[in-house]
Amino acid sequence: MKVLVLGGGGREHALAWKIAQSPLVEEVHAAPGNPGIAQVATCHPKAGSKPEDYLALAKSLEIDLTVVGPEAPLVAGVVDVFSTAGLAIVGPTAAAAQLEGSKAFSKGFMDRAGIPTARFLVVDSQAAALSALDSFSYPVVLKADGLAAGKGVVIAQDRAEAEAAVRSILSGEIAGQAGGRIVIEEFLVGEEVSFIVLSDGKDFVAMEPSQDHKAIFDGDKGPNTGGMGAYCASGIITPEQAQQVIETVIQPTIRHMEAEGTPFTGFLYAGLMMTAAGPKVLEFNARLGDPETQVIMHRMDSDFVPALLASATGKLAGHTLQWKPEPSVCVVLAASGYPGAIRTGDEILGLENAETVFQAGTKIVDGKLVTAGGRVLAVTARGAKLRDAKDAAYRDGENIFFRDMQFRKDIGHKGLNRC
Ligand code: AMP
Ligand code: GLY
Repeated sequence: MKVLVLGGGGREHALAWKIAQSPLVEEVHAAPGNPGIAQVATCHPKAGSKPEDYLALAKSLEIDLTVVGPEAPLVAGVVDVFSTAGLAIVGPTAAAAQLEGSKAFSKGFMDRAGIPTARFLVVDSQAAALSALDSFSYPVVLKADGLAAGKGVVIAQDRAEAEAAVRSILSGEIAGQAGGRIVIEEFLVGEEVSFIVLSDGKDFVAMEPSQDHKAIFDGDKGPNTGGMGAYCASGIITPEQAQQVIETVIQPTIRHMEAEGTPFTGFLYAGLMMTAAGPKVLEFNARLGDPETQVIMHRMDSDFVPALLASATGKLAGHTLQWKPEPSVCVVLAASGYPGAIRTGDEILGLENAETVFQAGTKIVDGKLVTAGGRVLAVTARGAKLRDAKDAAYRDGENIFFRDMQFRKDIGHKGLNRC
């Protein structure tokens, strides 16, 4: 088989790395890819990024299966375009990807499907926002509608902060164009868990639970990032909690998406808050998480390709996945300035000393590997217990250097006493 991975970050490196290990696969291709992905696949950096560009590439390479990493091509309809052309692809249609693409759609859907989530109101004007705020206590959460790369969420501690956030979102100062509508919602208390399943529209197979670390600094301090590290371990939630997530969130989502005529195929990512009243959905993503994918792929024991193919062809019923029992941890090494303005072009040294490093923001200039993005590398390792996996990842990371590299020193801290 020939497999094409769309995207060029750490998530896609981990996917391509896993897919390349499959005995069913002869060739892995990636568009655009990156220097890390180039170790396991043929990269096509100049293929373009429109659905039609990807289709042309897949046809010219005679690709048997395409796997989509990021949300942008999904929302742009790449799955619709491939399906119309009769090519197998893993991901949701543009209509189903609205579960991530529009927070207002997603909240409305959860309401209709009876899926537990924070109480919310959707408003589209300052006057409506101010009157809606009367019915919430503080802190309150304000979210810009639309894709905002994680920057569209404000947690306001009091009325003054909430009103300022309303103005910033509506004016486009926060999240730009994304600011036309605001979702105002109740602040939930609990621990966050990423619960991701692969669906074919009817049936699904679950990934093991994982946990991201969104804030830039240790102790979950500072501004949110795309994710500074993650771990994947069975013990993040109990088997009873996992069952509850499946019954109250995953099954009704798959069932209602199908009933509404927009069956959800591909990766459904439920960002959950495990509250005292049970799991509640903070957000849905229509794709795998980054850096959750790095730790999920590192723990997956099964060949992933049969399940991916089954997702694309509606044949997931009865599929299972096996997992290595040891927890996995990944520590993101980020560029100076991230998540704000970053410097690029710093040489990266010492990669050969670490066992598994997924590359995200890298490129090769004059034969040297240099930084080219905010999140540069994800150093990934497993260990008997979470603490061992964490120690192994940090030990590998110690050998890697680029100027002003920043990373969190507490990845996995929440799970140490139970995983
Ligand atoms: P989202 O993009 O909706 O996942 O929000 C980004 C982050 O904001 C989440 O990972 C949470 O840490 C936080 N957050 C979002 N919604 C809520 C909520 N209702 N209550 C508490 N924290 C929230
Ligand atoms: N790690 C969070 C995300 O991919 O959205």
